[in-house]
Amino acid sequence: MDPTEKTMRAYDEIAEKYCEKTMKEGKRNFQKMMLDRTLDHLHPKSRIIDLGCGDGRDTEYMRKKNFDVVGIDFSQGMISLARKKYPRCAFLDQDIRDTVFPDDMFHGAWANASLINLPKSELSHAEKEIYRIVEPGGLFCFSFKEGKKEGFETSVIDENERYYSYYSLDEIKESLNLFNVFKSEICPEKVFGHEFIYCWARARR
Ligand SMILES: C[S@@+](CC[C@H](N)C(=O)[O-])C[C@H]1O[C@@H](n2cnc3c(N)ncnc32)[C@H](O)[C@@H]1O
Repeated sequence: MDPTEKTMRAYDEIAEKYCEKTMKEGKRNFQKMMLDRTLDHLHPKSRIIDLGCGDGRDTEYMRKKNFDVVGIDFSQGMISLARKKYPRCAFLDQDIRDTVFPDDMFHGAWANASLINLPKSELSHAEKEIYRIVEPGGLFCFSFKEGKKEGFETSVIDENERYYSYYSLDEIKESLNLFNVFKSEICPEKVFGHEFIYCWARARR
């Protein structure tokens, strides 16, 4: 089975539990600060895609700030939960690596802890798709777990295995070919035992 397929099913099973747990213990204040910084780089009402939106918390936050936002996630469980929790938001069941959106549609993309589930060999596939749907010079903010390894793991949240890839900042910068990282920030506290790094990048023209 494709590692991402197994991961997707695992998220389907634990959508509700995962979101409750991360809402309470997932260092949300820091993540919200990172999202606010991202939005500071964008014009009011910019079109934004929330990649791997989970239960849609960030999508709703951006909608309330009058951004034109859509959240996508490949887990049906997550998308159903997001639609139930935030009925005024737009959510689509889509894989980050292959979306339905036209070229250059978005001014910015936000991927909070979602690229982490892709095998490293799939990162450039996702990067190409994000580059295609984000306008030239467009903003891309993403977070990832600091480290080296990749593979299936359980987490403190549940016993279902999901695929995780860890990167160093240098490795992520070297791996990206279509975006230039211009800023990064390390989360000062570990999130569920892991160091998280946020990167802001622009699509090459
Ligand atoms: C760790 S959760 C983070 C969710 C949300 N961004 C947040 O901040 O709470 C990762 C999310 O990314 C989604 N995801 C992982 N790989 C994906 C892919 N290739 N396409 C779409 N969604 C994906 C998962 O289903 C899951 O909802």
